[in-house]
Amino acid sequence: MLFMCHQMAMKKEAEQKLKAEELRRAQGAATDIPIIWILGGPGCGKGTQCAKIVEKYGFTHLSSGDLLRNEVASGSDKGRKLQAIMASGGLVSNEEVLSLLNDAIVRSKGNSKGFLIDGYPREKNQGVEFEIRVAPADLALYFDCSEETMLKRIMARAAAAAVQRADDNEKTIRQRLKTFKNNTNDILELYNEKTLTINAERDVDDIFLEVCQAIDCVLKKKAKQVAAQC
Ligand code: AP5
Repeated sequence: MLFMCHQMAMKKEAEQKLKAEELRRAQGAATDIPIIWILGGPGCGKGTQCAKIVEKYGFTHLSSGDLLRNEVASGSDKGRKLQAIMASGGLVSNEEVLSLLNDAIVRSKGNSKGFLIDGYPREKNQGVEFEIRVAPADLALYFDCSEETMLKRIMARAAAAAVQRADDNEKTIRQRLKTFKNNTNDILELYNEKTLTINAERDVDDIFLEVCQAIDCVLKKKAKQVAAQC
């Protein structure tokens, strides 16, 4: 029985990989500008590194968390439901998140130099859906950080904030860490080939040096792809 379950899981995984691969081939260079997923646990420094990337490369930064918080701030019924999920440290449905991301991408497509998709995918089906409905990602940057460091960083951020985020309290942070831990290995496995793991325990600028090397490499690859189409 256990063996059968394992085989079924392996089969499903192989099908997903194939689906993603077929899509990648079918879509080719779906966009001329880079699409970069920014992965890592709560407080690992995703937003901090994105701000530096935007400053240096002028990319468009789309944070799934910020898009959701904007919806919450609108005071809509939908926003109230999202708030409850976020305050519990769980994941909002992908339908909601992907539709917010997709709308934001469509809005800025003509005048963007590249997209940073921060906090997405948070489970592997999100990645698969993104590549089907939006475009293949060129690179995933995974900021690897211990739970202890992440907890400390968020608690420090909360202590210093004029307005504290509703999910920046110890109980919710622990649940966010748990949600992250439950889903991340699957994502890293599925997207192993396009993921660069970066040690995020270091100084912000040291991390950024490594980030820049990876982005420069993607930009070169993209330029070659575009040239090949001419
Ligand atoms: P989201 O807003 O994405 O929050 P998060 O992933 O928990 O990450 P944070 O924004 O808290 O931290 P960060 O990694 O950006 O770190 P930062 O740079 O700020 O998501 C919130 C919620 O929305 C989720 O829990 C979920 O409910 C929902 N959601 C979001 N995306 C979803 C999705 N795809 N699907 C479903 N639901 C989704 O840094 C933290 C602190 O550390 C700062 O004070 C910073 O100054 C400091 N710091 C940063 N780097 C360093 C360093 N190298 N050394 C020392 N300090 C540092």
